[in-house]
Amino acid sequence: MEFSIKSGSPEKQRSACVVVGVFEPRKLSLAGELIDQASNHALSDIIRRGDMEGKSGTTLLLHNVPNTLCERVLLVGLGKERDFKDKEYRDAVRAAIKTLNETGSLEASIFLTELPVKRRTTEWKVEQAVLMAMEGIYRFDRLKSKQEEARRPLRRLVLNVPRRNELGSGEEAAKRGQAIADGMNLAKDLGNLPGNICTPTYLAEQARELAETYKLKLEVLEQKDMEALNMGALLSVARGSRQPPKLIVLQYSGGDKKRKPVVLVGKGITFDSGGISLKPGAEMDEMKYDMSGAANVLGTFKAVAQLGLPLNLVGIIPASENLPDGNASKPGDVVTSMSGQTIEVLNTDAEGRLVLCDALTYAERFEPEAVVDIATLTGACVIALGHVATGLFSNHDALARELIHAGEYTFDRVWHMPLWDDYQEQLKSNFADMANIGGRAGGSITAACFLSRFAKKYDWAHLDIAGTAWKSGKDKGSTGRPLPLLVHFLINKSAES
Ligand code: BES
Ligand code: MN
Ligand code: ZN
Repeated sequence: MEFSIKSGSPEKQRSACVVVGVFEPRKLSLAGELIDQASNHALSDIIRRGDMEGKSGTTLLLHNVPNTLCERVLLVGLGKERDFKDKEYRDAVRAAIKTLNETGSLEASIFLTELPVKRRTTEWKVEQAVLMAMEGIYRFDRLKSKQEEARRPLRRLVLNVPRRNELGSGEEAAKRGQAIADGMNLAKDLGNLPGNICTPTYLAEQARELAETYKLKLEVLEQKDMEALNMGALLSVARGSRQPPKLIVLQYSGGDKKRKPVVLVGKGITFDSGGISLKPGAEMDEMKYDMSGAANVLGTFKAVAQLGLPLNLVGIIPASENLPDGNASKPGDVVTSMSGQTIEVLNTDAEGRLVLCDALTYAERFEPEAVVDIATLTGACVIALGHVATGLFSNHDALARELIHAGEYTFDRVWHMPLWDDYQEQLKSNFADMANIGGRAGGSITAACFLSRFAKKYDWAHLDIAGTAWKSGKDKGSTGRPLPLLVHFLINKSAES
């Protein structure tokens, strides 16, 4: 999809479709008014007849509106004007894209980007419109023998900004949106690929492709390298699988050589059956998404490299399957992590923290400015926050605030959860330094507490994306979250310098 920025009058757009908003009840937006005046009240006539009341989520496609240069006008319901905020803006753009996709326009000129949105800038509106458009046209049909062709797919969008002096910043914002969307598409594709294709080896190959395209440094540690580093926790998870584990290490150097890097760590369990502590069968297929943290790290590298952000970034992906086998670890096994701390594996299904803890210890060698891990870590986080907010845990409040801020900016929101010492007690073991589970109460918190024991040497935050990385049900699919948050966090970091 191609995007361009314009500042023009809606009635003078030579376009297949001009998109304007209608507030509830029956009030045209400014761009709608201009078309209405030019067309001898064609729009207000239609609205008066009751065909478009302005309810949010509704659309009405008009042909041959007099005295305009466009082939069609698409009216989009915006809901009540005083309730029109960021969420409603996103919903309106999403509805517009959906209708455009289902009708014949190959190209369109959108004026929703001109609407005032409380506490949001034109740049924000442009970036979000690009993200909504890219999301609307995303399909994952490469594994179907016949591709479902959208009848005539939308190819070009013109986004209109209110003032000519916003053309430059609008273009920057569209570029940012496009880079984030490209990163999200990579993350979504990797997430949606099944476990028999997207293995640890496949993830390493994808990292290799990224490294070649964007001139990144790549190192892939094999099982013998992990043995040499004493990564006993990570290796214990891989024991039950015939697919070799990989520790993928990507480096992007866009900043001053003296500047410490930000490190992203992504959980890369390409399928989580639970291991010997086998999961129940229902919806187990969704555990192919257990590498969504890893997919987000790869997608973030793509976006960051595309934008050429001036900072240094390291990505670490511990990748493995978690399967039952005669050689798999068993409940009660005690393993020694790279940090030297011993762990009693009371449940082999709490494998994410086992692969992450060794990756967190490995991160120390980069002397990071901050480490952020991204993981589909606990079902308990889904119970706590549902599918709306990602769980945020951190040992450093300033870092937590930066992530919260990036999440609010991008509408890719997180909720700050406690990481108090009081919860650490639940991880006591009679046989090792700690157990790998802390009981049902506060399950996402005790999981984060476990990780915190391996992240003492730097500022660290943990994002539990178990509820936000994918959707279930009839819209089953990867969401690409929290990639927008991560990229904006890094954009802000690179501005700090
Ligand atoms: N990958 C899962 C977490 C998960 C489960 C994410 C369901 C999304 C939906 C993780 O490895 C896991 O199995 N966690 C266990 C931990 C428990 C054994 C302490 C869980 O949440 O049940
Ligand atoms: Mn598990
Ligand atoms: Zn898992």
